[in-house]
Amino acid sequence: MSAPRGEFTSRFGFLMAAAGSAVGLGNIWGFPTNTASNGGAAFLFAYLILAFLLAYPALMAELIIGRHARANAVTALQSLATGPGTRWFALAVGFTGIITVSFILSFYAIVSGWMIAFFFDPLARMLGMDGLAAWLTTDGSLRNSLFLILFMLLTIYIISAGVKEGIEKWASRLMPSLVVILLLLILYVFTLPGAMDGLRAYLVPDFSRLADTSLLVSAMGQAFFSLSLGVGTMLVYGSYISKRENLPVIGSLVALLDVGIAVLAGMLILPAMYVALNSGVEIFDAQGGLIAGPGLIVSVLPALFGTMGVVGVFVALAFFALMTIASLTSSISMLEVPVAYGVESLGVARRKAAIVVGSIITLISLAIVFNFDPWFDRVVTYTTEMSQPLLGLAFCVFAAWIWNRNGVLEEIRQGSPEAADGWFFRIWPFYVKFVCPLAILVVYFQ
Ligand code: PHE
Repeated sequence: MSAPRGEFTSRFGFLMAAAGSAVGLGNIWGFPTNTASNGGAAFLFAYLILAFLLAYPALMAELIIGRHARANAVTALQSLATGPGTRWFALAVGFTGIITVSFILSFYAIVSGWMIAFFFDPLARMLGMDGLAAWLTTDGSLRNSLFLILFMLLTIYIISAGVKEGIEKWASRLMPSLVVILLLLILYVFTLPGAMDGLRAYLVPDFSRLADTSLLVSAMGQAFFSLSLGVGTMLVYGSYISKRENLPVIGSLVALLDVGIAVLAGMLILPAMYVALNSGVEIFDAQGGLIAGPGLIVSVLPALFGTMGVVGVFVALAFFALMTIASLTSSISMLEVPVAYGVESLGVARRKAAIVVGSIITLISLAIVFNFDPWFDRVVTYTTEMSQPLLGLAFCVFAAWIWNRNGVLEEIRQGSPEAADGWFFRIWPFYVKFVCPLAILVVYFQ
C-alpha cells in the first residue's frame, strides 16, 4: 500500500536538510536579540553548554529512533512500544507531535509571509511603485493572507517532490546560498560606523546574569526550538538517513551548524542595529531594552536600509532573501511530519498528502491572521513553550526508558561499528535517561 520510502542520497544532502530545518527565524531573529538582552557572551556561553549537553542528546534520541524505525513519527514510536500502555503512549505522543508541528507551521507561515512581502518592497520602490511598496510594508489582513498563501505554496511544492527531489535538492541549493548571503552582509555591515558598538553589545559578557534562572530558561527554550526538537521533525529526517552513516557524528555536525549560524547571525543583527542607532533610528523600546519583537525586522532594519541609498536596496533584498530561505528550509521540515504520516500510514499519494495537509494548515493560518491579537501569541505559547518541551521529554523517555539499551546500541553500530567503546555511548544513555528529562521538567515548571 505504501510508496517506497525516500532516502537522502548523501551526507551533504542530509546535513543541508537538517541544518535547514534547524536554522530558521529562531536563529536569525530570536537568538541575536535574546543574547544581547540577556548578558551578551554570558548568554552565549549558557546557550552553547545547554545546546551541547541537553539539546544535542535529545536531537540524537530523535535521529536514532527515526533511523531505526525508518518510519513516520507515529509508526516509529509505536515500533518501540513494549505493551498496550506504551503503544497508546506512542500514539498520543506521535499525534501530539503532528498537531503541534502543524500549528507551529501555521504561525511560522504568517511571519515568513512578512519576509517575502519585505523582499518585494525594495523591488517595488526601484520600479517607482511607491504605493505598492507602502502596501507591502504595512500590516494588513489582505497582505498577510496573500503572502502566507504564497509561502505555503512554495512549501507544498517542495514537499510534493519528495525527499530526494524536493527536500534534499532544495536544501542543498538554499543553505549554501544562505551562508554566502549571511557572510556578505556581515562583511558589509562591519564597514559601517557603529557596527563595533553592536558587536560589543552582543559579545561583552555580563556573567552576573548567569545566576538568573530566567536566562537559563530562555537559553534552553531557544536551544530546543532552534534544533527543531520534540515535534518529530528530526525523527522523520532521521528516518531518511542511510544505515551506513555515523549518527553521533552527523548529529553533532547538525548541532554545530545550527549554533554556528545562530552565532554568525548575531554578528549581523547586533552590529546592524547599532549602525541604525548611529543613523538616528530608535533601537530601544520604552523599557530601555533592545527592540526584539516584530519591530526589529519590520521597522528597525528597514529603516536602516532606507538610510543607505541605492546600496540599501541590495542590502534589503539580500537580507529578506536570507530570511525567506531560512524560513522555507524550516517550513518544509515541518510539513514533512504530517505528510510522512499520511503517505505511510494512510496510504495517500505524496502529492495529494502535501496538498491536503498544506491546505488545512493554510486555513488555520488564515484564521489566525483574521484573529491576530487574540490567537497569534497564544498559538506560539501553546506550541513552543508548552507542547514542544513536553514532547521532547517524551522522546527521551522512549529512547532511554522504553527502548532497550541494546536496541539503541545496535542502531548506532550500523554506521559506526566501534560505537560501544566510543565516548558517545558512554555518556549519552545516562544523559537521555536522567539529565535531559530532569532538566526539561525543571525548565518547564519555571
Ligand atoms: N528550528 C526552526 C527555527 O529555528 C523552527 C522549527 C521548530 C522547525 C520546530 C521545525 C520544527 O526557526
